[in-house]
Amino acid sequence: MTEIAIRAARPGDLQALTGIYNHYVRETSITFDIEPRTLDQRRQWLEGFAATGRYRCFVAVKDGSAIGWASSHRYNERAAYDTTVACGIYLAPEATGQGLGRRLYTVLFDALAREDIHRLFAGITLPNEASVRLHRAMGFEPVGVYREVGRKFGRYWDVATWLRPQGIRP
Ligand SMILES: CC(C)(COP(=O)(O)OP(=O)(O)OC[C@H]1O[C@@H](n2cnc3c(N)ncnc32)[C@H](O)[C@@H]1OP(=O)(O)O)[C@@H](O)C(=O)NCCC(=O)NCCS
Repeated sequence: MTEIAIRAARPGDLQALTGIYNHYVRETSITFDIEPRTLDQRRQWLEGFAATGRYRCFVAVKDGSAIGWASSHRYNERAAYDTTVACGIYLAPEATGQGLGRRLYTVLFDALAREDIHRLFAGITLPNEASVRLHRAMGFEPVGVYREVGRKFGRYWDVATWLRPQGIRP
């Protein structure tokens, strides 16, 4: 079986990560983007991460190609929200259900361990049992559900909000 390595994202991962993201844009309600993102749009997204600080991106790599990522990004532009960080995690469909989500989040959270982060946030369009279970397993707790806040594929979708009360501490 080919090893799956985890490392910080690089500019060369752009195409693979955009392909994964656009699969979920086109086929699912997991993201509320409706139109596929261009490489330029996703380049800006990828350039928003750094090797230090609160906002990072780690990729899982198999046979030289990125097959998923976990990232941390701004929760809200207003300054008092700085210590709350939102998480994102997407795996290629064939890479799901093998414990990789947990591995990626563990590496991300370890990397963030010294940062000044008080809360981690995740928003999950329902239903998404794998994501709900992953976030629960990683110490997030359910806060509530925003009913029918997104419309995609001609229907409205609920979004569950989850917070990790210990922030970045194990
Ligand atoms: C959500 C996601 C990141 C989870 O990562 P994963 O590697 O597939 O999940 P893991 O194998 O680490 O398993 C985590 C938990 O989810 C469960 N799970 C995994 N796939 C599942 C599925 N298809 N249905 C139900 N539960 C599932 C596992 O049993 C495990 O539960 P447990 O902790 O109670 O044992 C991954 O499935 C994915 O990328 N999905 C598509 C994109 C997405 O939904 N991103 C999250 C947006 S909020």
